[in-house]
Amino acid sequence: MKRVVCPGSFDPITFGHLDIIERSAKMFDEVVIAVLVNKTKSTLFTVPERIEMISEVTAKFPNVRVDSWSGLLVDYCEANHITVIVKGLRAITDFDYELQMSQINLQLKGIETLFMSTAPAHSFLSSSLVKEIASYNGDVSNYIPATLLEKLKARLALVHGGN
Ligand code: PNS
Repeated sequence: MKRVVCPGSFDPITFGHLDIIERSAKMFDEVVIAVLVNKTKSTLFTVPERIEMISEVTAKFPNVRVDSWSGLLVDYCEANHITVIVKGLRAITDFDYELQMSQINLQLKGIETLFMSTAPAHSFLSSSLVKEIASYNGDVSNYIPATLLEKLKARLALVHGGN
C-alpha cells in the first residue's frame, strides 16, 4: 500500500490545495493531509479549526485523511511509515524554497518529494492572497470552497474588527 503525505499550513485550504489532493488520491492508496507549522507564517485559524475545515471539504475522498504535527515533517513521515511527500508547484517562484526543503528532507531521513504542477487555473492562488482579498471584502468564492467563505469572513472581522 502506498501512503503519501500532502503537508502544508492550509490557512485556509484553497482550490489549489484541493486540486493537488484530489489528483494525489487518484494515484496513491492513501493520502494524508498533514497540517504543519510553518515558522515563517502567522495563521488566522488554529490547527483544530484547519483540520475541521479540511476534513469537511475532503470528506468525499475515501482514501484521504487529515492529521497534524508540530515537529519536523520528516519525523512525521518516519513515525507514520510514509516515504513520499507530494507538493504542488505553482510557478518558478516556488521552486527555490521547495527544492531546498525537498533536499533537506531527503538528506535528513531519506524522504522523497514528488512535485506536481498546479493546474494552470490555480497557478497564482495562495492562502495568503485569499486572506488579503477577503480582508478588503473582495470576492474569493472562486478560490476556496463555499462552506468556508463565512468562516473566513467571520474570522477576518474578528481579527480586523471590521476594518
Ligand atoms: O503551506 P506551507 O506553509 O507552504 O507549508 C510549508 C510546510 C508547513 C510544509 C513546511 O514549513 C514544513 O514542512 N514545516 C514543518 C517543519 C519542518 O519540517 N521544517 C523543515 C522543512 S525543510
